[in-house]
Amino acid sequence: MCGIVGVLGNHEVAPIILEALKRLEYRGYDSAGIATVRDGRLDRRRAVGKLANLSDLLVHEPLAGRAGIGHTRWATHGGPTVKNAHPHRVGPVAVVHNGIIENFRELHDELSAIGLTFDSETDTETVAALTAHHLTSGLSPREAAAKTLGRLQGAFALLFLFDGEPDLMIAARKGSPLAIGHGDGEMFVGSDAIALAPMTDRVTYLEEGDYAFVTRAGVEIFDAAGRRANRALTRIQIEATRIEKAGYKHFMAKEIAEQPVVVAEAISHYASLQDRRLTLPDGVDFTNVDRLVLVACGTASYACQVAKYWFEQFAGLPVDVDIASEFRYREPPLSPTSWAVFVSQSGETADTLAALRYAAEKVAKVVSVVNVASSSMARESDLVLPIHAGVEVGVASTKAFTCQLTVLALLALKAAEDKGRMTPDQIAAQLDALAALPGLMSHAERLGPRIAEIAASLAEAQDVLFLGRGPMFPIALEGALKLKEISYIHAEGYASGELKHGPIALIDAHVPVVVFAPHDGLFDKTISNMQEVMARQGRVLLVSDAKGVAEAGAGTWTTLTLPEVAPQFAPILHAVPAQLLAYHTAIAKGTDVDQPRNLAKSVTVE
Ligand code: AGP
Repeated sequence: MCGIVGVLGNHEVAPIILEALKRLEYRGYDSAGIATVRDGRLDRRRAVGKLANLSDLLVHEPLAGRAGIGHTRWATHGGPTVKNAHPHRVGPVAVVHNGIIENFRELHDELSAIGLTFDSETDTETVAALTAHHLTSGLSPREAAAKTLGRLQGAFALLFLFDGEPDLMIAARKGSPLAIGHGDGEMFVGSDAIALAPMTDRVTYLEEGDYAFVTRAGVEIFDAAGRRANRALTRIQIEATRIEKAGYKHFMAKEIAEQPVVVAEAISHYASLQDRRLTLPDGVDFTNVDRLVLVACGTASYACQVAKYWFEQFAGLPVDVDIASEFRYREPPLSPTSWAVFVSQSGETADTLAALRYAAEKVAKVVSVVNVASSSMARESDLVLPIHAGVEVGVASTKAFTCQLTVLALLALKAAEDKGRMTPDQIAAQLDALAALPGLMSHAERLGPRIAEIAASLAEAQDVLFLGRGPMFPIALEGALKLKEISYIHAEGYASGELKHGPIALIDAHVPVVVFAPHDGLFDKTISNMQEVMARQGRVLLVSDAKGVAEAGAGTWTTLTLPEVAPQFAPILHAVPAQLLAYHTAIAKGTDVDQPRNLAKSVTVE
């Protein structure tokens, strides 16, 4: 996802913008640039690759000016080249953009027809060109930007800077978040509060469709209809935006290690372990709910797949799980006695946000389970359940996943309580089991060195399979995704019973197979499937507890012994070795663990 920063400052802004862009690196990018206004004239510098390249360029070719905009680009239209890097400039207008202009071809052709030529392959350049065109027809910068915005279709966060306007930035938000930071005689704009934290803790979030004229004196905000709008000025918790590695080699390692603490934090927000009872918000009442739809992308969707077992087994509540990008195009029948729950770490994933908007007004309640309480999804939900995982910087989601699972487990217990399927004592016993998880996860994390040894061998594999049954099947999917996305090794997760229906043809001595098999009611079945793999020279890594390893570890390539855990919550515990396997394999392969190639932390384009 691209990062946007703008500053109307009282000092030279290029260094300030560069620092703010560094705080947005976690979003993933492949080029960057800054434009400033100095003595009324626009100037810019752009570079491909990491921000260090832009920083080097600024050393050799300094960029002066006390008004500026900056951008980190995650390529959508056109490859990562200097020409495609933002800011895009056409005549007296410079623009940075996060999102996709869906009608850019139409605009591009329209402008080409009147003789405009383009430098880049991007959709963003058409925004600058259209605005420049309106300026030449006599409109003011404010009028020209507003008129351009009226032509744009798709999702965008935009920031404009103009020749001759050292005290004006124009910001616009439709589908991608944008925040206005208030300083003392200075003003800032950023994709999120993390970018703005070093400059100010006073932030106004633009709402869907808003645009804003920003000057050092303040901001004028207009809604989608062009009416003046008042948006709340909020104070951000600077602590919450603190993004440091705290001595870890990678953010991912830090975030894996934080899991016991943040899972305990998530539990404490929705249950009183002292009183052994649930303390979910009043709006969480499943009494009259007859179906749940759980919708998400990627890792968050695997959390939903685990939660399906919990809601159906604890509460007898039917659950449909949908991948967000498929959900609204499937046009699923939704009923006013259903709830739709959207799970997202960022709360900004375009596919999931679009699915939420599809479901709104069609279900009894839209619920979002998010890590960013100020996110678009949170703001458009009837009920928001933050997961309290803290800022997650690594592109590969880890602590957010286990916190999503924790909150979904507590929701499922509430559904069981509301449906009269569990007595208070049974709820108390479940909470006791859940409360044990942070300690068990700490124990599992001590497997790191052992897993690093295994990873050295795993790193040589071309293909890896992950197997699990029941609620461990989604953990197999998550383990495969983690390995794929940070080590670039092809991996697939399968329901272990499914292997004999085709995928077993893949098995030979070169294919490591990771089997998640806690000693639960499905253990024997899973081990049978594992033995089918071993009979074909498959190299099995068995992840179980002491009892499981003792019963089935013989003949495997190797084993990982986890502490015993209440079977229903084993998925939360087994997520830890899945994450550590991916992490250490990526290190063995030398890939970029925190910002793997081609990926963004939150994908705000469909
Ligand atoms: C997970 O490791 C991936 N980075 C990706 O699958 C992610 O979970 C997905 O894009 C959803 O993001 P969200 O939780 O912010 O909506």
